[in-house]
Amino acid sequence: MTTYRVHKLTKRVYLLRLDDTDTRFFEGIWPIPEGITYNAYIVTTSEGAILIDGWKREFSDLFVEALESVIDLKDIKKIIVHHTEPDHTGSIEILLRLLGNIELLGTQFAKSMLEGFLGRALPFFKPLKDSEKISLGDVELIFLHTPWLHWPDTAMTYYPEEKVLFTCDAFGGYSIPRTVVDSSDDVISEYLPHARDYFANIVAKYSQHVIKAVDKLVSIGIDYKIIAPGHGLVWVNKPDIIVKSYLAWARGERFGGKFKVVIIYSSMYGNVERMISSIVRRLEEQDIELRIYKFTDKTHSNKSDVLGDAIDADLIILGASTYEGSLNPLIDSIVSMICTKFKGLRKRFIIISSYGWAPSADKELTKRLSEAGMEILKNVTYKGRPDKKLIDNISEEIYKIVNELRKA
Ligand code: FEO
Repeated sequence: MTTYRVHKLTKRVYLLRLDDTDTRFFEGIWPIPEGITYNAYIVTTSEGAILIDGWKREFSDLFVEALESVIDLKDIKKIIVHHTEPDHTGSIEILLRLLGNIELLGTQFAKSMLEGFLGRALPFFKPLKDSEKISLGDVELIFLHTPWLHWPDTAMTYYPEEKVLFTCDAFGGYSIPRTVVDSSDDVISEYLPHARDYFANIVAKYSQHVIKAVDKLVSIGIDYKIIAPGHGLVWVNKPDIIVKSYLAWARGERFGGKFKVVIIYSSMYGNVERMISSIVRRLEEQDIELRIYKFTDKTHSNKSDVLGDAIDADLIILGASTYEGSLNPLIDSIVSMICTKFKGLRKRFIIISSYGWAPSADKELTKRLSEAGMEILKNVTYKGRPDKKLIDNISEEIYKIVNELRKA
C-alpha cells in the first residue's frame, strides 16, 4: 500500500518519503515490482522553512498531510526545484494553490520546463546561478548546477552547516527500502541492486555527466556527510558507497563482487536455448556471478533488471533467434536500449544466433553493437537446431574466453 514516512534527519532537516507501490512502470516504461520512493526535504530556519523537491502529482494530498505533520504550511517561504520531472514536481501545483505565488528556485532550464509542465508563466520562479547562496533566517544553502542528472535542468543543493547534499535523481534508486537511511550493511546490500537498476534505466545515458558532477563536487570542496537523494535510501553512515557505486556504473564497471557474466537471450522454439543451456552449465563450473535473462514462450524477464545487470557486467552473452528475416523484436528492443544508454561504455559481447532461412540476426547485432562502440569477442550463428558437436565446441570456447578474461 502506498504510504509515507516523515523522518527527522538532522537538527534542521526533515525527510518526507512517499513509498509508492502503485506505480508499476516507472516513466511508463520500466517495470518496478519493487516500487519506488520520492524523497522531499524540509529545512527549518529561524524565519520559516525551505522545501526541497516534492512528490508525484497523484500523491499531492498525502504530500500536504506529510508537510503539515512537520510545519505549518504558511511557514514554507521557498521551494527549491532541483529537477522538473513530474515525479518530483507533480505536487507543486497544490502548493501554489494553497500558498499563492511562493518563491520557486532552480535553474533557468527548470523555470522554462516547469512552465511547460504547469502550462502557465511562473514570474515568481527565480533562476539561480551556479554556486549562488540561498538564505533564509539563520540558514544558508549553496545551489549547484549539475546538468543532465538526469535532464538539462538538474541541480543539487548543499547545506554546509549540517554537511547535507541534496541530490535529487543522482545517487537515487528504485525500491522501497525497509529503512529510510543506510542503517546496516544488510539494508545497503539489499538496496544497491535496485539503485544499479535505476542508474542503468534512468541515468546511464548521462554517465559522463555523473563523472563530471562528482569531479565538480570534489574540486569545489563539497565536504558532504549525508547524501540526500530524491529516490531511495538517504546515506548518513556510508555516503561514499553510493557515490563510488555511481562512479563505477558510470564507467560500466562493477563496484566489488565477482567477475560477472550476463546472458540475455530469446528463443522461440528452443534452438537458441539449447546452446545457451550448455554454455550456462559449463560456466557454472567457474567462480563467477552468472545472471540469466530470457524471452521465451514460457517467460519474459524484467527489462529494468536486464539493463541493471548488464551495465556492470564483465561480459554479456546475447542469444537471439532470427525473426522474419531480422532480429527477434524483444532482443531488438533490449539491444536498442543498451546501445542508446550504454553508448561509450565499451561493454564486451558474445553473440549467439539461430536462423531458419537467412542468417540476419547476427549481422544486425554486430552492426548495432559496433556502431555503439561495443566490443564483440565472438559471433556464432547456425542454421536451425545446433548439433551436439557444435554445442560442445562453442561451450568450451566460451568457457576458455571467460577464464582468460577473469585472469586478465
Ligand atoms: Fe526522479 Fe528524472 O526524475
